[in-house]
Amino acid sequence: MKPRAPGRHFLQIPGPTDVPGRVLRAISEPTVDHRGPGFAELGGAVLTGVKRVFKTTQPVVIFPASGTGAWEAALVNTLSPGDAVLMARTGWFATLWSEMATRLGLQPILIETDWRRGADPARIAAALAEDKAHRIRAVCVVHNETSTGAKSPISAVRRAIDDVGHPALLLVDTISSLASMAYAHDAWGVDVTIAGSQKGLMLPPGLSFNALSEKALQASRDAKLPRSYWDWKPMLEANASGYFPYTPATNLLRGLQEALALIEEEGLPNVFARHDRHAAATRAAVEVWSQGGAIELQCLETTDYSSSLTAVRLAEGHSADALRALILERFNMSLGNGLGRLKDRVFRIGHLGDINDLTLLGALAGVEMGLQLAGVPHGAGGVDRAMASLAQAGAAP
Ligand SMILES: Cc1ncc(COP(=O)(O)O)c(C=O)c1O
Repeated sequence: MKPRAPGRHFLQIPGPTDVPGRVLRAISEPTVDHRGPGFAELGGAVLTGVKRVFKTTQPVVIFPASGTGAWEAALVNTLSPGDAVLMARTGWFATLWSEMATRLGLQPILIETDWRRGADPARIAAALAEDKAHRIRAVCVVHNETSTGAKSPISAVRRAIDDVGHPALLLVDTISSLASMAYAHDAWGVDVTIAGSQKGLMLPPGLSFNALSEKALQASRDAKLPRSYWDWKPMLEANASGYFPYTPATNLLRGLQEALALIEEEGLPNVFARHDRHAAATRAAVEVWSQGGAIELQCLETTDYSSSLTAVRLAEGHSADALRALILERFNMSLGNGLGRLKDRVFRIGHLGDINDLTLLGALAGVEMGLQLAGVPHGAGGVDRAMASLAQAGAAP
């Protein structure tokens, strides 16, 4: 048997994130009758409360599923077999979404990137301008590409679609940005926003979301892709009275109610500011480490830096997976792995969810000690620089 690892495990992957005690305790309350008279109060509270996080006044549908389910729901409710969808392939998750689209009988048109930046609105506009027959029915963008730590400019993508007068829907994956990076479903003109419970919302995996627009609802009336479990219509009908058409994840919904309370107590702008500070401090540490010549940020565009995670790239000859294994073994900390073509090249530091300055500094200290032990050349003093960055940016309000 392995000896007990004392202290708390550092779950510094970019989701699932650590679940705060208050949320865990709410989830552990006795399971309730989802068709009983008392349930509508909880159902109504979370269906209304979650809208404030998406910054929408329009309906938000909640599925008992991981984020992948909400991807599928967004596609099957709005599109028909053979429809073209324009997808910015910004990384591994954008790739998986495009593969799903193909499997569902859609025709993805991919805008390729080097996986080191977000989507380019000008390239989206150019592709739409060429589509005179309006074969493209939706533009799909991952707001925060969790495999690369690069974000895409969603409101600029909306403007690009509007500027060329194209009627395509805008579908946006915010699975690793909702409730950690600034986002506004209504103001940014998004038609379907896709999200999951296990990252910024500080819940375990198991809930996923589609925030809708009037245009998306209209599209769902004509969409011909087969759908049953993911159908918005029975959901919206039952949700109107605080209920669900099939058994919802009742305990997770109770957890969501508590997580929403935590977010309101901190204040959403403060949540975003905290994530921005932690991301800046992490990049400050990486900048120092990079002086050894073997380390660099995966994201190359300063405007595209993610505030929920930092993907760190190692030079040829160094194994990111070996480094992560060593850090797990020695310091009981999980870091995110490199995905797809970034396998073994990149490790990812998650700094989203319920973390504070000292959690972050502990995580960065674990990385710096790991680099030393693994013999990865690096500039010394990354943690010092992160401390200075945090001090300069002031304590979280
Ligand atoms: C940006 C993004 N999209 C989609 C997914 C897939 O979500 P899930 O694993 O919850 O199905 C993830 C998972 O990490 C993600 O980060």
